Amino acid sequence: MCGIVGYIGGKEKKELVLNALGELEYRGYDSAGIAVMKEGRIDAFKATGKLKNLQEKTKNFTSEGDGIAIGHTRWATHGKPTEINAHPHFGQHSYIVHNGIIENYREIKEMLTSKGVTFLSQTDTEVVVYLFEHNLQTSKSAFEAFEKTVLSLRGAYAILLITTIAPNSIFFAKNAAPLIIGKNDEKELFFGSSDAPLIGHAKEVCYLEDGQYGVLSKNEILLFADKKKVSSIFRDLPQDKSYAQKEGFRFFMEKEIYEQSRVLGETLMGRIKNNEIVLEELDEYLFDGINSIKICACGTSYHAGLAAGYIFERLAKIRTDVVIASEFRYKEPLLTPDTLFIVISQSGETADTLEALKIAKNAGLKTLAICNVDNSSIVRLADNTILTRAGIEKGVASTKAFATQVATLWLLSIFMAQKRNSVGKERLKSEIDTLLRIPSSLNVDNATHEKLRRLSKRYLHGHGFFFIGRDIFYPLALEGALKLKEISYLHAEGYPAGEMKHGPIALVDSKLFTVALLPKTMLYDKTKNNIEELSARDATILVISPEQFELADDFIKTKNSSHVMNEFFEMMIILQLLALEIAVRLGNDVDMPRNLAKSVTVE
Ligand code: F6R
Repeated sequence: MCGIVGYIGGKEKKELVLNALGELEYRGYDSAGIAVMKEGRIDAFKATGKLKNLQEKTKNFTSEGDGIAIGHTRWATHGKPTEINAHPHFGQHSYIVHNGIIENYREIKEMLTSKGVTFLSQTDTEVVVYLFEHNLQTSKSAFEAFEKTVLSLRGAYAILLITTIAPNSIFFAKNAAPLIIGKNDEKELFFGSSDAPLIGHAKEVCYLEDGQYGVLSKNEILLFADKKKVSSIFRDLPQDKSYAQKEGFRFFMEKEIYEQSRVLGETLMGRIKNNEIVLEELDEYLFDGINSIKICACGTSYHAGLAAGYIFERLAKIRTDVVIASEFRYKEPLLTPDTLFIVISQSGETADTLEALKIAKNAGLKTLAICNVDNSSIVRLADNTILTRAGIEKGVASTKAFATQVATLWLLSIFMAQKRNSVGKERLKSEIDTLLRIPSSLNVDNATHEKLRRLSKRYLHGHGFFFIGRDIFYPLALEGALKLKEISYLHAEGYPAGEMKHGPIALVDSKLFTVALLPKTMLYDKTKNNIEELSARDATILVISPEQFELADDFIKTKNSSHVMNEFFEMMIILQLLALEIAVRLGNDVDMPRNLAKSVTVE
């Protein structure tokens, strides 16, 4: 999704801003641009496609000495991914970069068009720069014009604007899209739409709040909200950049699959003491008066939520509903105060999930975020947060984030079971013992990986995939299908194994690939019957199971069937590696699949 960077200082600005945009590449984008102002003159460049195209375009441009710069990677929302639609957009004197969506851009555009403004692009962003220049005509200062402009915008935005009318300043505004200011001891100032481009440059950062806007110049940070000056609060920025290296793996996604054992250890760290789950980050009274749970999330996080639905009801014996955030928002949901509202998000910035959280908060519900990114918008809004501690995930297709989400939700369900006395002591002990052993069972087995690599060549040309499973293996099947779709661009569907006979079985022939999850610990015989029904109709079947299955065309043997969650996590890794190896054989960009963005900050 779109990324923003900005800089005020004396370094080579082009290089600095291009490198900063490079740190945001993993989020997905389809064009990029920069604008650099020095001695009252602005030079701007844009290019479609990857950043190397922009680097090529700017190779003869240098920008040493004091000045300012802004940069942007665009993920198309309004208008095609063309150079004209790429940011920065410009008026007569000013350039702007923007993340988010201006909801009232049509009204503004009509008003400006009636005053004779002509627009080059199809974007919502371009109206903002022209509105600013229009407001300049009736304002005493550039700041006054910017303030008027921002206060008339509706929607989500992180904006940086530079203008020759007020050289050496960057005007900024933030609402429902992340924007961070960074500073260091060398008196350099930075902007970023996430921490990543600021690491190694900024020492301290200020996470702007919704509705804040202001202006930054070399000597001053002026911050406002609703026409009143507010103070900026800076905190130290951790400088760990190790996530940026692939450490010998071919792709970040592969590295992140292999990392899951280690990061799950982080997820559990300090949260199991004396055979009890301890979640010190939660409000002591969070579960008082709670009789049901509603979980809201998108994509992979939604799949983690679906898995949690099974665990919560089984262990904590609490009614649990799981809803896709974009559906929840407009269904006029009935919310009662005895419901705990849980959102799950890797990035903490997903617009639909954030909006769902706002609805729940406004309805007076207690809220809890399961999130990977501290200080993200979702974390700041929720009353309570459990961080999943996956570390920065660079692969667009989520892997370790999913594993840590499921582990965190399992942890939470045991915690609730403790509080509610919903299962006996023996059961609690066995859950905690298994949870403690999960990190070691997540080590990737090299022989299995190699087998999947070889096997993947047989799964490149069919007319589609069905991933099937029952119970908690159904959300896992959904997740396996999503992984494959995202990076291989092959059609794949996740389906409850018992539901195939109610329709989809009509599709079955030898060119239909079925990936069947056949755990020993959960509905083994029932699932086996469902697989046999497909085999009888000549489907090509890959079975993943601890038990040999004669009718399978291909078979991956799992090792650990002592607990349902051991089976879940072992099969999860196999599905991730299968998707990876098929995508690699097809020659796709595994880390940055087409049309996808890492953090989806539009509705
Ligand atoms: C899939 C994937 C997406 C995200 C979804 C929600 O691999 O990454 O489906 O899970 O966009 O994102 P978060 O978890 O950041 O709210």
